[in-house]
Amino acid sequence: MDVFKVAIKRRSIRCFKDVPVPYEVLKGCVEAARLAPSGGNWQVLEYLVVDDEQLLPLVFNNIRFGTRRQAAEGEALPSDQPKAYIITLVNTTLEAKTSRSKNVTFYDIGLANENIMLVAWERGVGSCPILWFDQEALKLVLVIPDNYEIGLVLALGYPDENPVLDVFCDSTSPWVDEKGERHVPKRELRDIMHRNRFT
Ligand SMILES: Cc1cc2nc3c(=O)[nH]c(=O)nc-3n(C[C@H](O)[C@H](O)[C@H](O)COP(=O)(O)O)c2cc1C
Repeated sequence: MDVFKVAIKRRSIRCFKDVPVPYEVLKGCVEAARLAPSGGNWQVLEYLVVDDEQLLPLVFNNIRFGTRRQAAEGEALPSDQPKAYIITLVNTTLEAKTSRSKNVTFYDIGLANENIMLVAWERGVGSCPILWFDQEALKLVLVIPDNYEIGLVLALGYPDENPVLDVFCDSTSPWVDEKGERHVPKRELRDIMHRNRFT
């Protein structure tokens, strides 16, 4: 798949097949993140790959993430849950040595994770970035040292849903139809692209 196709076809996936993601695929994703642009080339990010079956539910319990099919009690079915996570860590010891603002780290996190998501998608693996997580609980569960902060949690696995791209009407909120498919409204190109002088 060419890069354009990957970029326009990628959708956030929240329902995964009960199939593990090979470690080599995850390693390839981190390699793509390693070589992502970095403000001042300070490279303050590191990555924690979680694919241990015992640990996966412990991570899942500390993120806000709704899969499409839910068990009766409202919990996501274990089989639908992510089969791996790539957790972006900020090495705050390295970060403190830079004179840059925290915003630069946020840009680095976004750019690195886009690389990961595109490489994963190209290899048939879906993902979803998760910013709503319990920082302290996850650090405890994953034995992350004090001088590291979790920047982003990326959930991964082979997609077991086909989100539908919708034209934006009056809401940007994704919604689920009667067949259980997630619809993702996007603003149209003509409404967001400007050329030369804005007006
Ligand atoms: C910075 C950021 C944080 C996000 N956090 C969450 C999250 O905590 N939980 C979640 O289910 N999805 C999260 N998402 C996924 C968005 O909901 C998703 O990207 C959006 O609905 C558009 O869908 P698409 O990725 O398929 O284009 C996040 C996305 C971004 C960029």
